[in-house]
Amino acid sequence: MAGEPVNVNEFQELAREALPKMYYDYYAGGAEDQYTLKDNVEAFKRITIRPRILVDVSRIDMSTTVLGYNISAPIMIAPTGLHKLAHPEGEAATARAAAASKTIMILSTGSSCTMEEVASSCNTVRFFQLYVYKRRDLAAALVHRAEKNGYKALVLTVDVPRLGRREADIKNKMIAPRSKNLEGLLSIEVDSNSGSNLEAFCKATMDASLCWKDVEWLRSITNMPILIKGILTREDAIKAAEIGVAGIIVSNHGARQLDYSPATITVLEEVVHAVGGKIPVLFDGGVRRGTDVFKALALGAEAVLIGRPVVFGLAAKGEHGVKRVIQMLKDELELAMALSGCPSVKDITRSHVRTERERL
Ligand code: FNR
Repeated sequence: MAGEPVNVNEFQELAREALPKMYYDYYAGGAEDQYTLKDNVEAFKRITIRPRILVDVSRIDMSTTVLGYNISAPIMIAPTGLHKLAHPEGEAATARAAAASKTIMILSTGSSCTMEEVASSCNTVRFFQLYVYKRRDLAAALVHRAEKNGYKALVLTVDVPRLGRREADIKNKMIAPRSKNLEGLLSIEVDSNSGSNLEAFCKATMDASLCWKDVEWLRSITNMPILIKGILTREDAIKAAEIGVAGIIVSNHGARQLDYSPATITVLEEVVHAVGGKIPVLFDGGVRRGTDVFKALALGAEAVLIGRPVVFGLAAKGEHGVKRVIQMLKDELELAMALSGCPSVKDITRSHVRTERERL
């Protein structure tokens, strides 16, 4: 691509040029027909913005709080695995970019820097994303290490009882290196003859019996607040609010798990209504523009998480690329707020958007 990227989608092009095909496909791909992958992005385009005029927008304040932590804009870094496949400095570079951008980074269990390395590489607020393995002692050990290393919240990912079928990884025979967080803790051989080793690893290790009562167990072993990531229905949102977790994340895992699950932006409002303000609702999936952030906030999200754009920024230009990606989304959000008559995040309301259903 000629010239400097001017938007987040152009970073995806740069990443495609920079990465071996196998790694690019691992980051970019989704499950099966990739219907949900496309729709996560496309569904935002079916929502329009209802701008208000003659509002004083000479000063725009995008700052907000998540679980009481101040961030410069409602844009956080989603947990994504294996950043060293994108850049040699891996998650340490991503974390420094998060710190420079004054936002929160959620570190994946499947990271290629250890949680200790990331903790010592920057002083940004960090949350730790947890996968619960069949060996519960492993989960408990990860939780205690996260607590000891100053991670402020646990993000429990609940949409991976098994790995989604990612056909590009199978075709490419994608062999993923093991997470550094598990080094020395989990020695397991998996048969990867069928293609990617990811699916076999997950089948052998992930606890597919994980259920609501285990959230209680998790609460009993940590003082960190717990966020549940992977909620798509009012039924599950109500349960989460009832058991009193600290918050939920509306997410379909970037469309990498169940194909034909709904585009996340189409279910956000259902979840927000069900929760009724009892706990905060965060959101991810398909955010590529500041206007997407605006739309998610109008439909009730407190903040959004971005996954692939961060990895593409990292692949294209390292720490600087991640900073640029976040700054682009912030600049676009700021402009959208100014042009819609919303001087602060709390001024963005439901009446600022029109969904597809309302247009019928
Ligand atoms: C993910 N995601 C993810 N989620 C999680 O809870 N733990 C993880 O280790 C990972 N790993 C991961 C790797 C890669 C390459 C991707 C693209 C995604 C899902 C991620 O947190 C988030 O839900 C989505 O990425 C959000 O969608 P977008 O922003 O990528 O469209």
